[in-house]
Amino acid sequence: MAAPSAPLDPAEDPSLEELVVARPFLSRHAFDGLVLEDVPLSSIADAVGTPTWVYGAGTMRARARHLRAALQASGMDVHAHYAVKANDHLAVLSLFAAEGFGADVVSEGELRRARAAGVPADRIVFSGVGKSVSALRLALGEEIEQINVESAEELEMISALAAAMGRTARVALRVNPDVDAGTHEKISTGRAQDKFGIPFAEAAALYARAAALPGVRPVGLAAHIGSQIETLEPYRAAFARLADLVHTLRAAGHAVETVDCGGGLGIPYRNQPVPRPEGLAAVLRGAFHNLDVRLLVEPGRWLVGPAGLLLASVILVKQTEGARFVVLDAGMNDLVRPAMYDSWHGILPIAAADLVLPVEPADVVGPICESSDTFARRRRLPPLGPAARVAILDAGAYGAVMSSAYNARPRAAEVMVDGDRWTVIRERPPLEALWADEHVPAPATQTAPLSRAPAPA
Ligand code: LLP
Repeated sequence: MAAPSAPLDPAEDPSLEELVVARPFLSRHAFDGLVLEDVPLSSIADAVGTPTWVYGAGTMRARARHLRAALQASGMDVHAHYAVKANDHLAVLSLFAAEGFGADVVSEGELRRARAAGVPADRIVFSGVGKSVSALRLALGEEIEQINVESAEELEMISALAAAMGRTARVALRVNPDVDAGTHEKISTGRAQDKFGIPFAEAAALYARAAALPGVRPVGLAAHIGSQIETLEPYRAAFARLADLVHTLRAAGHAVETVDCGGGLGIPYRNQPVPRPEGLAAVLRGAFHNLDVRLLVEPGRWLVGPAGLLLASVILVKQTEGARFVVLDAGMNDLVRPAMYDSWHGILPIAAADLVLPVEPADVVGPICESSDTFARRRRLPPLGPAARVAILDAGAYGAVMSSAYNARPRAAEVMVDGDRWTVIRERPPLEALWADEHVPAPATQTAPLSRAPAPA
């Protein structure tokens, strides 16, 4: 299923009530309005202001346990590593570390964050198509669990670095299984034309090369075919190819201990049907049950996406002949997903009164000077006067981590709810912080004369 290129039909959008009912951690109260876990969102907006990200720790924990139970019930030896990129806040990382999850990291910053949040080095997998030398040195020095190698060139680089440091890195070859995950073009990673992974046909020879090189020990394979995957079929196809490759490698005399099956499990942004972890576990079992391998999975979005929302206030409502624009104080600099991937996020008013008023179509937009700063088109919402507040749903993954300071807008505050308690986990920075590290050069402080040598012919 390809990403829809035509605009979605607003007539098929879930109603406000359907959005709430499908999200067990959200509820509507006659006086308190919209409540996340046991905290009315209006109390957070009153105290902290908007825009503010709000995450439900209880929700994240419940999802972590659901996923783990589904994997364990498959009877396979499967370990979950949280994909740090989805939401790298230390509070989130420590929550998953406390739940016994490892971490999947893609940069020196993420590796250091995971360590700072208490993830043991031997539960960290390092992925990514361009790992820097300093990141690799850190990974080798910390003796992390595994480095997923993305190219022949990178394998040589890791071998040389590790040998010079007197270390032996456990490496897995990330192969590109050439499977279309049926997701948005910009988050599809497992097709031959994507930049990720080692071409499938070259993997066996490269495994043999890894076995012969100093400083590295090949321990297995890895693949990650994309994100927001909404059917199990692409997983089935990719895992079948991985299982074939395990057979080929073993027949050639190589040890293959582990297969990292990546992340990508989709979530029901628009209440659409998506696979559950039990379904993924069954596909893992189907592909690998007779192979005696240790499996890894690297979910990000599934764990944190539904557990977060972005609180925003209405600045004004602009009525034109053709449309009603609800202009929010949150913009694409905060949540870029709609602008970047045409993604659909549920939007709910948070005041008790707004939740029961009749709805009419509105375009929900941010204040930024770009037309792509649009969160929703023709969305059926109540009148929402100035100062009304809304929650943009399912924003716990790829939300705050992707935000920027475009239009000189400071990062939104972040709050974590846990049952009936809540804590500010990142303050809203003062505006001055935006330029505190900038320097305006004084006139003529330094010179860098041009060479007088003639230009080469
Ligand atoms: N493992 C690897 C190697 C990855 O590249 C990714 C995501 C994951 C695991 C986690 O995938 P997840 O379970 O979260 O789907 N910014 C985009 C998503 C980019 C995903 C990049 N890689 C979005 O907002 O939809």
